[in-house]
Amino acid sequence: MQREKWASRLGLILAMAGNAVGLGNFLRFPTQAAQNGGGVFMIPYMISMLLIAIPLMWVEWGIGRYGGIKGHGTTPAIFPLLWKHPLSKYVGVLGLFVPFVVVCYYMYIESWTLGYAIMSVTGMLPAPSSHMVGSEAYLKPFQDMLNAYTGMGKGDIYQPSAMAYGIFVLTVFLNILILIKGISGGIEKLAKLAMPSLFAMALILMIRVLTLETPQGSAIDGLNFLWSPDWTQLSNPRVWLAAAGQVFFTLSLGFGAIITYASYLKKNDDIVISGLSASALNELAEVILGGSIAIPAAAAFFGILAAQNIAASGAFNLAFVSLPAIFANIPFGQLFGFLWFTLLFFAGLTSSVAITQPIIAFLEDEFKLSRTVAVISTMSVLFAVAQVPIFLGSALDEMDFWAGTFFVVIFALVEILIFFWAFGSRKAWKEINRGAIVKVPRFFFPVMKFITPVFLSVILLWWIFDVLPDYLKNGNWTVWIAREVLVGIAFFLGLLVYISQKKNRRRR
Ligand code: TRP
Repeated sequence: MQREKWASRLGLILAMAGNAVGLGNFLRFPTQAAQNGGGVFMIPYMISMLLIAIPLMWVEWGIGRYGGIKGHGTTPAIFPLLWKHPLSKYVGVLGLFVPFVVVCYYMYIESWTLGYAIMSVTGMLPAPSSHMVGSEAYLKPFQDMLNAYTGMGKGDIYQPSAMAYGIFVLTVFLNILILIKGISGGIEKLAKLAMPSLFAMALILMIRVLTLETPQGSAIDGLNFLWSPDWTQLSNPRVWLAAAGQVFFTLSLGFGAIITYASYLKKNDDIVISGLSASALNELAEVILGGSIAIPAAAAFFGILAAQNIAASGAFNLAFVSLPAIFANIPFGQLFGFLWFTLLFFAGLTSSVAITQPIIAFLEDEFKLSRTVAVISTMSVLFAVAQVPIFLGSALDEMDFWAGTFFVVIFALVEILIFFWAFGSRKAWKEINRGAIVKVPRFFFPVMKFITPVFLSVILLWWIFDVLPDYLKNGNWTVWIAREVLVGIAFFLGLLVYISQKKNRRRR
């Protein structure tokens, strides 16, 4: 069976950019920067970008294209080609586990943005009177609204509203519609439509926000706050950890998603410039657009201090509480609210299809399932597991912590070690540069071979010795159930890998 291919270079770059540009760019980035020293956050951010993210990005593209030529798009099947060891396929299970777990809650959050987009245009969001702006009471109806919508925050079992649940089902359905059309017919078409609209919407919102001025402050104050460095924070290891974590998250590194997308490249397609272009689009969306909407708007409306508090209380409050509250009070606010949530929804949708595709590709490549069967079975299982973060208290954070933050670093380290050490640095370097219009600068060879793995190991050790012990100490019964579910998923995927390997050996 011939594997699918991207139809055009532009489509590929937009799809890869769509993979990377997500909720992380518009919510996670500004919150992280605000919490970790403001402008000084950008120093570890840039260093992590150069020494971890860019090298890893090329490594993932290289591994993916290499696997794709041989008919495989996921790491349980690609790692054994690079590293002849009986364990390699089980290490590769990480490349299914991480996206599987993340997509279960990512799609749910994505569905909130669709729900809020609908509520914005239909005028279902609260409309408190303007003389209350600046007082705490002003934000309260929006906070209550979010609590009622998601049913979170009350007890161990959440009770989402019927609307939240219905829209989640709709979101899953939309994802199915795109994925079932395949790589060039579904994902690539979506990216060509959604990415330009996303940038246009973000630009409009940025201009609107930066011209906001109220008695409480201006958006420019917010930019100043976000970008004025707190130098004392530079020696704080947590700031470095946060910056490296953000760089991973925003570029979708260590999830297996880029590998799978790259597996649909042709043998001599360029990856050096394509990869760099997609990453550059992501940084534009993150640093320029993402940094100039949510926080500056909050600063203009509520003053710097309140904006800081909102940022500290988490990304969800920024997106679903403070921004709707702002839009409730400006001309055409309903429309801007709609733009904001549609922007987030497009960002989420182009990412959720990317996190789902590894599972689908695994079933297609290793079990020879047809695309339709692969999509439907993947989505049914994901839908079932998604009930855990929807209803079980703290499960979402727990899944995000393990799959979205911790194992990502492990997986990234494994990838680069397998490619540059087990497979061989010369072969890996040649693999990345094949078909390149411009080759990777020589500077990156020692970086990929030594510096990135060392940097990643340091981060990992930090996690294990500094963050994990504290983290494991607290946790009520819901957290433990969530952890058991995670172990269950890992075993289930491991079993699938075992079966696929048995089957394929017999076939050969
Ligand atoms: N990069 C995405 C964002 O900024 C989130 C993300 C992380 C992701 N890993 C991914 C998206 C893997 C798709 C695939 O929100």
